Amino acid sequence: MADRLRSGSGRAPGKVILLGEHAVVYGRRAIAASIGQGLEVRLTEGRVPRLASPNGSGRLYEALARAARGFGIDGESLSIEVSSSLPQGVGLGSSAALSVALVRALADLLGAALDDGEAGARAFELEQVFHGNPSGIDNTVCAHGGLISFSRDRGFRPLACARPLPLVIAIGRAARETRRVVGALRERWQADRVRYEAVFDEIAALVERGEAALAAGDRRGFGAVMDANQDALARLGISTPELDEMAAFARAHGALGAKLTGGGGGGAVIALANGDASALAGAFQARGWRAFTSDIGPAASYSTYRSYPKQEPT
Ligand code: PMV
Repeated sequence: MADRLRSGSGRAPGKVILLGEHAVVYGRRAIAASIGQGLEVRLTEGRVPRLASPNGSGRLYEALARAARGFGIDGESLSIEVSSSLPQGVGLGSSAALSVALVRALADLLGAALDDGEAGARAFELEQVFHGNPSGIDNTVCAHGGLISFSRDRGFRPLACARPLPLVIAIGRAARETRRVVGALRERWQADRVRYEAVFDEIAALVERGEAALAAGDRRGFGAVMDANQDALARLGISTPELDEMAAFARAHGALGAKLTGGGGGGAVIALANGDASALAGAFQARGWRAFTSDIGPAASYSTYRSYPKQEPT
């Protein structure tokens, strides 16, 4: 039997939201980009089900079962292994990347065609296992890769970027969960819609300015918009003292702009370096924060996780 085992693998990159997280849940436009860090899922049929995953989440099996049903098979007899260079649960799209990689691995195992659009759509269903009420931006950017503008009603479009953005991604120490942060914001919004809608509109205007700055290659202008977005996120109650401190630290070390990224309430900060991103990442590390660099824009390193490697038939 051993020679008849089928296996499949799929990859997907993580992502950063450059501008507009949370407001995107309420219908506004946001800008996101895939990053050079990502993950790979390997599925093997016929073995005793086994889980080897850096996030060790029970939800992974739920997602696998749901994804398998979507392909008309039963996931019970599949073992799953996940290898990742993407920090988990810090707002870098690990659940979306996992969902995209999982459906790609299933398609690979079954020999089924799956384009990026369908991978993103199937991943959206799995995201609901992890997230509750996702906007769809994470699965879209993790499936298509690159730099995109996204809104719930209009979907995504690739964005022009005249110059790559040298980004530093730094990870805070506090544990957090996007689902909780999104849920708590919804309660505050329900209690005072006028106030929160006004901040979402303000963020939508920043996203427009950000798109124009990207198209013009105006890094300084884009950095200023990132700072203003961080300020708006703090007023939404999404930032934390540590994230504020990290953003201020980045600016004090020469960053053109800095903000939290993703769900917030802890998690990651992105900083736009003025030149050498590795020096800024080093400054974060010297202060005890995990930090790494990722270029965002055309021809950036994210292409390594864009698609899954086709396995040679055995
Ligand atoms: O924390 P992450 O990586 O899952 O990003 C969530 C982005 C939000 O805008 C907060 C939620 C969403 O679904 O768009």
